Amino acid sequence: MIAPIRLGVNVDHVATIRNARGGRHPDPVRAAKRAIAAGADGITAHLREDRRHIRDDDMARLRAEIDRPLNMEMAATPEMTDIALRIRPHAVCIVPEKRSERTTEGGLDAASQKAQLAPIIRDLGQAGIRVSLFIAAHAAQIEAATALGAPVVELHTGAWCEALAQGHAARAEAEWQLIRAGAALAKSFGLEVHAGHGLDYATAETIAALPDVVELNIGHFLVGEAVFDGLAEAVKAMRAAMDRGRAKGQA
Ligand code: PXP
Repeated sequence: MIAPIRLGVNVDHVATIRNARGGRHPDPVRAAKRAIAAGADGITAHLREDRRHIRDDDMARLRAEIDRPLNMEMAATPEMTDIALRIRPHAVCIVPEKRSERTTEGGLDAASQKAQLAPIIRDLGQAGIRVSLFIAAHAAQIEAATALGAPVVELHTGAWCEALAQGHAARAEAEWQLIRAGAALAKSFGLEVHAGHGLDYATAETIAALPDVVELNIGHFLVGEAVFDGLAEAVKAMRAAMDRGRAKGQA
């Protein structure tokens, strides 16, 4: 029997739409509640340094108003660490951040940033916050996460999803094998394994079959689908895809 797989719904892009016009609509907290009612196991939100989507007040309201685990994505900076220590989300996922990027383009280089990451992981951990590192599924990064004492890694699925979307079958297969091997390696080191970035119904179904992966964090695709079918329907369809994938992994 393999562990069930959790769905974390990322509500950043509800805030992106709100911010396009200013004001309060659509509210990412309302979206989070709707996603939970439809089957999300947790909510993820990224407080970027430039506050381009989620803002400080959104994060505080998510923490106060939702009744499922909140996963705060953040850069490894003193400012963000202070905010996380004040808000006390269930989990923090440390991500690399560049102002010029459209989204989180690559994984964190944990292997070369140990000195910067170590005190942040320690302080958040001592506050009872579960820390994950968003990394590419490379052995060196998984080993670095283990050495740093992070209890969780989130494997970056963006390159795999992009290769599939562009029809690059050989590259997609190579990326998939990296993810499979990386998930198994991380699990063998005692890490909890999450995955995310760029996932849609098909890729979430595929990756849910990997027994070592226990959580997927998914945002952009769900908010896009919500335009057509509504957020609740999109979350339900994603849950169903993940459950189908998990069942294949059991077989
Ligand atoms: N996981 C992490 C660590 C991320 O940074 C993001 C993007 O904010 C996601 C998951 C969700 O990616 P997407 O919006 O492409 O589903």
